[in-house]
Amino acid sequence: MDPYKYRPSSAYNSPFFTNNSGTPVYNDNSSLTVGSRGPVLLEDYHLIEKLAHFERERIPERVVHARGASAKGFFEVTHDISHLTCADFLRAPGVQTPLIARFSTVIHERGSPETIRDPRGFAVKFYTREGNFDFVGNNFPVFFIRDAMKFADVIHAFKPNPKTHIQENWRILDFCSHHPESLHAFTFFYDDVGVPTDYRHIEGSSVNTYTLINKAGKAHYVKFHWKPTCGVKCLLEEEAIKVGGTNHSHATQDLYDSIAAGNYPEWKLYIQTIDPDHEDRFDFDPLDSTKTWPEDILPLQPVGRLVLNRNIDNFFAENEMLAFSPGTVVPGISYSDDKMLQGRVFAYGDTQRHRLGPNYLLLPVNAPKCAHHNNHYDGFMNFMHRDEEVDYFPSRYDPVRHAEKYPILPTVCSGRRERCIFDKGSDFKQPGERYRSWAPDRQERFVSRWVNALSDPRVTHEIRSIWISWWTQADKSLGQRLANRLNVRPSI
Ligand code: HEM
Repeated sequence: MDPYKYRPSSAYNSPFFTNNSGTPVYNDNSSLTVGSRGPVLLEDYHLIEKLAHFERERIPERVVHARGASAKGFFEVTHDISHLTCADFLRAPGVQTPLIARFSTVIHERGSPETIRDPRGFAVKFYTREGNFDFVGNNFPVFFIRDAMKFADVIHAFKPNPKTHIQENWRILDFCSHHPESLHAFTFFYDDVGVPTDYRHIEGSSVNTYTLINKAGKAHYVKFHWKPTCGVKCLLEEEAIKVGGTNHSHATQDLYDSIAAGNYPEWKLYIQTIDPDHEDRFDFDPLDSTKTWPEDILPLQPVGRLVLNRNIDNFFAENEMLAFSPGTVVPGISYSDDKMLQGRVFAYGDTQRHRLGPNYLLLPVNAPKCAHHNNHYDGFMNFMHRDEEVDYFPSRYDPVRHAEKYPILPTVCSGRRERCIFDKGSDFKQPGERYRSWAPDRQERFVSRWVNALSDPRVTHEIRSIWISWWTQADKSLGQRLANRLNVRPSI
């Protein structure tokens, strides 16, 4: 071992105790005191280091998605989509890529129960030969808002009241009563899928629209969808109370135990694509994250499968310090002008520089597994071994060169600077269709959850009327049912 390239690892564990500088510790039980009863000496370096380190054991939790579980595995291409993308890891059926996945709830804290009604995060870091590709999606295929400008607001409204620290329906319904586009996400939130059985039985969706680019430079809008091979399962209210009351980490435990028992969770990956030249053919905007793409006109195309076959070794290193970003893409996959996605491309790296520090991408779980090189690496906690004398580019002393050019988005951008809302498509059509696709008992549970939410004593008559009028526009009978149960006259 070259001592100067040494990186701390449990592989180098000493058989006896040392302090963090490697000095032997002959007593880890008793502080160094004057006489047998104290006082304690400040020169007890080991004690001070032990206390000081403990006091710093926590890092800021994720501002959203703080509660989560992760596991490792691989992705295997099963269908050729090389006509759509030049992404190396999707180059041919049979190609496998190692990965780590993290599932999460969105709103509550790191230690909160996993039975709460909330979207579930579905994030996958693919360690490809051309760098990492982070898929950062949710189990619901749509989001409550469609402009990054409103993200902090919608999250604040769903998070606990800043005064009481309790999640309160009146705050959610108040904020969203300004956003009819949220209606569609509520057909998932207050549906049975709002409380999944565990992480193995959830779907995943990119929600946002990305772009696939092929070797010739042709781009297609794309949405990604994960379907669990064991099916989608949910907990109804009584079951959720029972499960959550018995074990507040039941989903983390289920994931861990399933993998440990060799019952490996698996998902199939599908895509839907739209040729950007045809984007005006639809009655919705393909860049609107509150709309789904109807599968009858834009069918799901199979791509591959994801298998989780290895548990993590350490929760802190491989869950807390795991850092995803929708900005982390590989050649052949790019962003779209989706206004939510554009905000996200910035926000994740930004939060991780705060949460983990500027060198968060050097942490083993986040670092690419392929060769990588650039000159931005100093700053807090740079532990990468470097011995070059040239840390600028270009240089006649350093043979490093630009990577080979790969196709980038061919789109031409033009237009006036504007701040505006989407002007295409109805916010009521898709929610109404989804409600009508359900069996009567599922509709009834949805109505009951809405009646319960709208019965919050702090929901005003005005807010209640807005929601009833919106649901009436989505589906007349649904609006009528809510109005009857709440004793309100539906008015559009
Ligand atoms: C403008 C909109 C959004 C912003 C600004 C935003 C911001 C964030 C931030 C700051 C985090 C914490 C990251 C960390 O500390 O590691 C996060 C986590 C996450 N977000 Fe978003 N988010 C947005 C929309 C969305 C949407 C639409 C989805 C689903 C498609 C999503 C899925 C996730 C997931 C799954 C995580 C957890 C990743 C993990 O497991 O570490 N977010 N988001």
